[in-house]
Amino acid sequence: MKTLQLGDLAPDFTANSTLGTINFHEWLGNNWGVLFSHPADFTPVCTTELGQVAKIKSQFDERGVKVIALSVDNISDHHSWIKDINETQQTSVNFPIIADEDRKVAELYGMIHPNADDKMTVRSVFIIGPHKNIKLTLTYPASTGRNFQEIIRVIDSLQLTANRKLATPANWNQGEECVILPSVSNEEAKKLFPKGYEEVKPYLRLTKA
Ligand code: BEZ
Repeated sequence: MKTLQLGDLAPDFTANSTLGTINFHEWLGNNWGVLFSHPADFTPVCTTELGQVAKIKSQFDERGVKVIALSVDNISDHHSWIKDINETQQTSVNFPIIADEDRKVAELYGMIHPNADDKMTVRSVFIIGPHKNIKLTLTYPASTGRNFQEIIRVIDSLQLTANRKLATPANWNQGEECVILPSVSNEEAKKLFPKGYEEVKPYLRLTKA
């Protein structure tokens, strides 16, 4: 299997989930999507991660982003575990979890890293754009829970820069200054950003989005 890279078409699949059978591309429609894997049901870090995603699901919704989780456990385990997540994390899991028992999706997306663990999926994240191209990949080990607020921050950057000649600097958050792409001339920058920009260096020009 070729490693999925930025810009690649997100592979389509049909899979069983806690919200019924899902055809991935149909389910995405024209929305942005986040597909993320976790190593296993009934494990502590994964319990906190899925609880956290449920708690901030409205932030994904506001951005037009559909969220879906995956592990290679079976559907009945997923349903029992959801009760534990809801109870211990004081939330209500409100997004589908794929039961990828035959590892079909995990293999399609390279979510099993045999030198880390040959049975469980690692903590993969794929952010998928509205044309179903992969916009970001992240891989965390089983021992490290992800920061889902960082995923929201990346989505803000991806959505802001999708149709503007801008990029976002280190630690950027929504509302802060962006940088003008180096490919944009000063002439063009004046037209594109009529409120002006600050030229710190010829290659480092800051402006409000
Ligand atoms: C966890 O989610 O806590 C976990 C899962 C697999 C290995 C280690 C930790």
